[in-house]
Amino acid sequence: MSKWFYLNGFLLLVAIWKLIEHAIYSSIQLPVWLGLAGLLFFLFNWTRQAVFSTIRNHPKRKVKVRLAQLSKKVVPFHRYTGTAALILIIFHAFLMLQRYGFALQTPKILIGLLAGITLVFMVLSGWLRLFWPSVKKRYLHIYLGMTLFVLICIHVIL
Ligand code: HEM
Repeated sequence: MSKWFYLNGFLLLVAIWKLIEHAIYSSIQLPVWLGLAGLLFFLFNWTRQAVFSTIRNHPKRKVKVRLAQLSKKVVPFHRYTGTAALILIIFHAFLMLQRYGFALQTPKILIGLLAGITLVFMVLSGWLRLFWPSVKKRYLHIYLGMTLFVLICIHVIL
């Protein structure tokens, strides 16, 4: 199994843990729910990377074929789930900025904004690939995904 499955699982567990903390110390409010929903949509799409990686490295042909069929089933939704993640995160960011202000000295907000900007480019590169596919754009999309994954991890942990 690809290391990305474990990393995705780790990020999901950290996010759930943070939500439990919110629930214990105050209550889970709409802006946080929106952040979690955006994260879930991102993770749904990013798990395809884990599936591809497993297809490339798995020794058994039967497993490779089954995973490829599964991946083919979700591909029609990929761009829409990515766009949905962006829309949810825009609302998340808007409500957070309304609550805390444009406080770039706060690491959570600074890293959140960097993640938000990366997500904009990730979604854009995904749509551009539909109309003008190229190997460069494919790699750009994957590297943006990796960068986004790291930024979201830092954002949620902080
Ligand atoms: C891809 C982008 C993003 C994702 C997936 C995301 C996800 C999340 C999640 C799941 C939480 C709740 C867990 C926690 O408190 O650590 C959260 C909290 C937070 N997010 Fe984001 N976020 C993103 C972008 C942003 C942006 C652009 C901002 C800009 C203002 C932001 C500001 C915050 C703040 C201030 C909190 C803490 C809320 C509190 O403790 O009251 N996030 N985010």
